[in-house]
This record gives sequence, C-alpha cells and structure tokens, in this order.
Amino acid sequence: MEVVIVQDAAAGGQLIADSIADLLRRKPDALLGVATGSTPLPVYQALAARVRDGAVDVSRARIAQLDEYVGLAPGHPESYRSVVEREVVEPLGLDPDAFMGPDGSATDVQAACERYDRALAEAGGVDLQLLGIGTDGHIGFNEPCSSLASRTRIKTLTRQTREDNARFFDHLDDVPHHVITQGIGTILEARHLVLLATGEGKAEAVAQAVEGPVAAFVPASALQLHPHATVVVDEAAASRL
Ligand code: GLP
Repeated sequence: MEVVIVQDAAAGGQLIADSIADLLRRKPDALLGVATGSTPLPVYQALAARVRDGAVDVSRARIAQLDEYVGLAPGHPESYRSVVEREVVEPLGLDPDAFMGPDGSATDVQAACERYDRALAEAGGVDLQLLGIGTDGHIGFNEPCSSLASRTRIKTLTRQTREDNARFFDHLDDVPHHVITQGIGTILEARHLVLLATGEGKAEAVAQAVEGPVAAFVPASALQLHPHATVVVDEAAASRL
C-alpha cells in the first residue's frame, strides 16, 4: 500500500485527477469506480477542469457506482445515482449510457445485488476504484464486521453512518436504513484502489486502516491486501499516522 500525504483536499483532488487522466490516456474506455460523499468532490472538479482544457478525453470512459441507498424513489436527489449524475456524469460530460449502478428501488433487492456484481465482472472489471472512508472505517457501505470476502449485497447502516449522512437529508429519519454496497471482496477485484481521506475527523479511521491489523472491524484495512492500493491523505487526516 502506498500512502501519499498532501497538503490539503484540493491537492489530493489534483493528484488523483492526474492518475485518472493517465489511465484514460492508456485505456480510453476504462471503467472508473466512483464514490459519493463530500471527499471525492475535489477529484471530480479537478478532472472536469482537465476535460474542459482538452487535457483528457472522457468520451469513451465508463463509470460504475460503489453503493446505493435502498428504497429512495427513482430520481430522489439524494439517491447515489442522482448524486453521481449531478457531480460526475454531467460536469464531465460523460455518456449517461456508460454509467452502471445497482438498482436500489428493485422489488427483489438481493437479485439486484447479484446482477450488479455479475455486471461489473462482465464489463471487464473496475480499472480504478475511488474510495472515501467512513468515520468508522467503512468503505462503500461495508460497515464494521463486514466479511472481507463479501460480494455486492444489502447492508443495514449503523446509527453513526446514518448520523454522518443526515446532513444530506432534511431529517435523520429520512436517511434510509438499508443500502446496496459492492462487497469488500468485490471492491478488492478492482485493478487499482485509490482511497482519499481528508480532515481531522478521518484521522483515527485512517490510522487504523493503514497501520492497524487487517480486520473486518475496520473494512478499509482490507486495502492492505490489495497489490495496488494508494491512500491519499491530507495533513489533518494523516495526523495520527
Ligand atoms: C458514505 C459513502 C462512502 C463514503 C462515506 C464518507 O457512507 N457510502 O462511500 O466514503 O460516506 O463520506 P464523506 O466523504 O462525505 O465523509
């Protein structure tokens, strides 16, 4: 695992946008795994600036969602499909048909999970998976004690994660209890994992993920098992390393 400490979130965004741009030059139809939350926004903004400057061609790029809430109406502004459309697909001018994600409004959620897991493999696998980290060490929505071999499946959110994400909703009660997430085993199949963490609030989770033992209790520690994992942290998030 490579750990890169940058000065701030903007610098982290530039660094990862460079890495994605390099990948797209080598492989124009690369499948990019995208994460939601506040942390990856500087990456998408830096990448959009490169697209505007003509420094990178995203016309053949494909993207895949990491996770999704269960039960939000299709088109709900906080469904992760809507968030990715708003923050990634539209600003980058990506082909909306080249965007895959799990169906959080399916009547048979389990079947939707299995379908998505298969679809990722059939698409050739994720080339670069961008990840954030929860304050409890989760990646995607793999909460503590998720199996390190888990596949895409339905999970129940912890109270802490629902509270962390309540800022995107009017009220805590509006935050769904259930989600679909790529499993840790699924995530580990991506060719390159890039985790970005910024701010003091992530410092403890980062320290446990990077320097603690590989343990289901800290899902992000699974990155230690991956042959090509990069952890980009700003100085605040690196403060307990
Ligand atoms: C959610 C997402 C994760 C994300 C995490 C942290 O739980 N499912 O993919 O990493 O939030 O979000 P933030 O970057 O806003 O702290």
